[in-house]
Amino acid sequence: MATINRFADLHDDITAWRRDLHEHPELLFDTHRTSGVVAAKLREFGCDEVVEGIGRTGVVGVIHGKTNKSGKVIALRADMDALPIHETTGAEHASKTDGKMHACGHDGHTAMLLGAATYLAETRNFDGTAVVIFQPAEEGGGGGKEMVDDGMMDRFGVQEVYGMHNYPGLKVGEFATRVGPLMAATDQFTLHIEGLGGHAANPAACIDTTVVSSHIVVALQTIASRNTDPLESIVVSVTSFETESKAYNVIPQRVEIRGTVRTLTPETRDMAEAALTRIVENTAAAYGASATIEYERGYPVTKNHADQTAFAASIAREVAGDSMVNDDVDPVMGGEDFSYMLESRPGAFVFVGNGDTATLHHPDYDFNDDLIPVGCSYWAKLVETAMPA
Ligand code: NI
Repeated sequence: MATINRFADLHDDITAWRRDLHEHPELLFDTHRTSGVVAAKLREFGCDEVVEGIGRTGVVGVIHGKTNKSGKVIALRADMDALPIHETTGAEHASKTDGKMHACGHDGHTAMLLGAATYLAETRNFDGTAVVIFQPAEEGGGGGKEMVDDGMMDRFGVQEVYGMHNYPGLKVGEFATRVGPLMAATDQFTLHIEGLGGHAANPAACIDTTVVSSHIVVALQTIASRNTDPLESIVVSVTSFETESKAYNVIPQRVEIRGTVRTLTPETRDMAEAALTRIVENTAAAYGASATIEYERGYPVTKNHADQTAFAASIAREVAGDSMVNDDVDPVMGGEDFSYMLESRPGAFVFVGNGDTATLHHPDYDFNDDLIPVGCSYWAKLVETAMPA
């Protein structure tokens, strides 16, 4: 593996930063301590510009190379927020806040990008400008969108943007990416089904909302099995089914159903929304019930651009070796709000192996600190190669 030697020296420091962030997890846009730590470190490293409060609690650092003949501006992005999960790792650096934990490794992403920033500010061995982006609220709040909407890309003249996420199950230092859709669009729905409640012993006098709703749950499975091209990918999952009553002898008046729809193309996404609406309204009507539908479009597809993905894969090969890079991995149906940055500028998102650890969002998950020199080297080489001195 051809990691940059400087990161072997910095490994202990960056690990300490990572573990400090892990001990102090913050949710969504509430990353005040984390943002403060990030901004203070970027200033300490000698970044040419450090701006806080972009997209509420986002932080951006600017590092100029030794020269700027190329006029190029390359941005690297990390996420900072944690999850509302009770940590069970038992690690010495475990969360000090009950019910919050870094279960997605954003502590590691932030620490690795800080590591890259200190190296880039120290060496400045490139011709152009590196922009480091630290975003809040990746886990559902759309912090990436807020930063883009706040004018970040224009303000800092960003021309290309790159993102990275650790991936349990891939070996440490193994990279995976692909051109085109890498992660799914994530939509969610809430269905309110209303029938006619009454005594459970007298169903003929009722419109049994539970039965109607059960038919709806089953019928929704046909969006994937009957409405979607068999070569396309889609997930329709019902994740919550709640009746108004917990009694044994009451047919409830109302049922609320929740779930998620994951797709990889705009066409499938539109089709799924239309099919869901049609199935829910008409199934309810078929049994004499009524339905109201709240369909909320979440993060768009994380779609990698061809040239930038080929470039990112070439950097990964340089850092990790040919056999450790898969540049045509299957997409995953999770979502990522780096998608908004990729809608705004060309770029690429890569997965990097976290080793044989608990899965993301699991209470036993912990970011693997062995990954630090790999991730930092990837960032640094990406900048130095995109804008050679
Ligand atoms: Ni994550």
